[in-house]
Amino acid sequence: MQVYSITSGKGGVGKTNLVCNMALRFAELGKRVLLIDADLGLANVDIVMGLKPKATLADLFDGSAELTDLLVPGPGGVTVLPASSGVQEMAYLTDDQILLFMGALEELDRDFDILLVDTGAGIGKNVLYFNAAAQEVMVVSTPEPTSMTDAYAVMKVLAQRHDVKRFHLIVNMVPDRKTALRVYRHLTTVADTHLPDVVIDYLGHVVRDPAVSQAVVDRQLLLQNAPDSPAAECLRELVDTLVADSTDRPISGNMQFFWRRLLQPGV
Ligand SMILES: Nc1ncnc2c1ncn2[C@@H]1O[C@H](COP(=O)(O)OP(=O)(O)OP(=O)(O)O)[C@@H](O)[C@H]1O
Ligand SMILES: [Mg+2]
Repeated sequence: MQVYSITSGKGGVGKTNLVCNMALRFAELGKRVLLIDADLGLANVDIVMGLKPKATLADLFDGSAELTDLLVPGPGGVTVLPASSGVQEMAYLTDDQILLFMGALEELDRDFDILLVDTGAGIGKNVLYFNAAAQEVMVVSTPEPTSMTDAYAVMKVLAQRHDVKRFHLIVNMVPDRKTALRVYRHLTTVADTHLPDVVIDYLGHVVRDPAVSQAVVDRQLLLQNAPDSPAAECLRELVDTLVADSTDRPISGNMQFFWRRLLQPGV
């Protein structure tokens, strides 16, 4: 199982919309996808995908439910662990509860190829948990200066406190690829100066496109609602890049990695 998290410094940069559509694209490519919503934001995966959980983490901890009972089928065969099942309260769980949750998650290793985690914005404890544990951290920025500054800040904390040294940058809401590359250059220039052992990969961009918010209004995923829109094309390209990339890396043993990283002191 490949573990990807998505995060940002500033809120409202499009993480949830991006990750939900990326999940769908992975599924279209035949991957078995689990999407965990650990986002504290208001417009979370439940809403974007129109889901209702049956059980919560509380049921898992008192033994009345298994982790699989918390999973909800989403569009296109994507499986979702909704925030409303209590994942967003990860920041307040005891170490024993986290261990139980991670152990249960590890057991799903054989059932899924891709684990995507929507971690929300900023440097809150649960945001950092999931990003520190994930194998591949995707950072979303827009071309706005505040968004770039905050994206840099979140990478800095993850690098310095949690030893995450590689990031995949997605630049959202741009007019074109050229603007996105300018954002990438800006961030790498700052990182090269202040965080010399950090590597930022350019994963891709998604254009600003009214079809994205229209899909939210229509309560559909963009890739289903407007598959030919410019933003949908960008999203497919992002996932196709990740899939092409992942063949270079080992595809097994990642859950153990996830688990180990989480238990590292200071994480
Ligand atoms: N490429 C885009 N073009 C136009 N609008 C977009 C694009 N991406 C996202 N949006 C809009 O931006 C808003 C924020 O998106 P979203 O909720 O996905 O952000 P987020 O980063 O998950 O926010 P939060 O930090 O609150 O969780 C939504 O209204 C969404 O429709
Ligand atoms: Mg969100």
